[in-house]
Amino acid sequence: MKVLVIGTGYVGLNTGVVLAYLGHHVTCLDLNTQKIDSLKQGVPPIYEPNLETMLTLAYDHLTFTTDYDQADIPGTDVVFIAVGTPSNKDGSANLDYVSQAAHSVGQRLNGNFTVIVNKSTVPIGSGNWVATLIRDAYKETHTAPPQSTPAGIPSSLSRETSGGDKSVNLSGGPDSSRSDANAGLLRPAHKNYAIASNPEFLRQGSALYDTFYPDRIVLGAEDPRAIDTLTNLYRPILNQDFAAPECLPRPEGFSAVPLVTCDLASAEMIKYAANSFLALKISYINEIAHLAEKVGADITQIARGIGLDSRIGPRFLNAGIGWGGSCFGKDTAALISTACEYNLEMPIIQAAREVNYKLREDFVMRAQQELKILKGKTVTLLGLAFKPNTDDLRDAPAIDIAKMLLLRGAKVRATDPVAIPNMQNQYPELGIEYYEDPAEAVRDTDAVLLVTEWPIYKKLDWKNILKDGQVKLIDGRNFF
Ligand code: UGA
Repeated sequence: MKVLVIGTGYVGLNTGVVLAYLGHHVTCLDLNTQKIDSLKQGVPPIYEPNLETMLTLAYDHLTFTTDYDQADIPGTDVVFIAVGTPSNKDGSANLDYVSQAAHSVGQRLNGNFTVIVNKSTVPIGSGNWVATLIRDAYKETHTAPPQSTPAGIPSSLSRETSGGDKSVNLSGGPDSSRSDANAGLLRPAHKNYAIASNPEFLRQGSALYDTFYPDRIVLGAEDPRAIDTLTNLYRPILNQDFAAPECLPRPEGFSAVPLVTCDLASAEMIKYAANSFLALKISYINEIAHLAEKVGADITQIARGIGLDSRIGPRFLNAGIGWGGSCFGKDTAALISTACEYNLEMPIIQAAREVNYKLREDFVMRAQQELKILKGKTVTLLGLAFKPNTDDLRDAPAIDIAKMLLLRGAKVRATDPVAIPNMQNQYPELGIEYYEDPAEAVRDTDAVLLVTEWPIYKKLDWKNILKDGQVKLIDGRNFF
């Protein structure tokens, strides 16, 4: 099938590469020229394990562009909108990029049936909003300049006012829309396309693995043709009958993937509800960890003990400094903001957020307790990214922690296998000393704060580093 993916961030790029590997013809579009230039050279602009290898394997089925006109939207079966939806100040999702993408697609739709898929995490109800944007953009481009009707009403408007949304179908069947000869008539917009929601559950750091071997695929759409098209697109993943790449072998016993088909709003809500639940699970175990510390219990054993109950499950029960990243903080805030529009409170999710962000302060307080005075002390942060195997710093606890330490007069050093360049570019004002080599970073320091649990940190010569307790180790991830 012919696929267009708009946005080459973590979601878009991984999706595009996997679909191309499966044999679809994929165009990845991004307005950022630097990213596209880099991708054309086969170099991913983000760090994600195996992405470079997969990019090479799928390269023949991939095209990269910054230009919507080169993307052949009319000939495309599926368009994924996978652009960023950062948080607004009030916690709501900023949909400017989604809106721009929808508009650009709507203007270029024509002829063939195309499914436009919201892959970005968008607030509940966005599918309908995107449909409206596309319809309006479509109408803008496919309606002749206004001609006066006898009553003086522009012809396009008279159609619209006489028949509402349905009136856009006045020009007949899909075939008539293929010809430009019928300018002045609206093409049958809603016959040419359908909107779907296909939320993404991939985790950064294991994004390709999660895309090839997902727990489930969720498809939400009102138009059954959209569900059919997307089911066909994902067939190799659903049936697990593709040849697994060597770098990402199929897990033993992994077979058919469950498919959840539903309406648009339910699919959109599944995404928010899933992320909020995972966020809640982490905050829950962190709350238990606080009490465990007071009573002298071991949170790792507690997590194991409860996680083996299949109703609870063992994953996402690692206590520490809590969640970061581009998803949990943003999505919990957006869900609360949506609920607020309906005059609803979400006290459980609100509490999960409060517990989470307080963990960063608590961590700095622990360092202060250990060192007594932070002012003038050298403190080394092991890890900057919000979790291992990514260079992403969005909502990374390391940033808040570094800021609080600097505010208290500590001298902050930091190391990370891949995130240092991003930190230097995004936070040049912080005055942190960066070390590529973690062994250098921990030399002659007063305290080592484990922020991101990169496995390589286990291999450091801890006996020598800690100098019989003279150097404090504060483990933010229950890693050691
Ligand atoms: C998360 C979800 O896990 C994905 O399913 C979802 O697709 C994605 O958001 C998204 O919405 O795009 P991600 O943010 O990449 O994925 O990373 P996670 O592995 O979920 O970790 C999030 C944060 O929680 C990290 O800071 C991690 O260190 C923390 N965490 C995770 C814990 O503190 N404890 C745990 O037990 C697990």
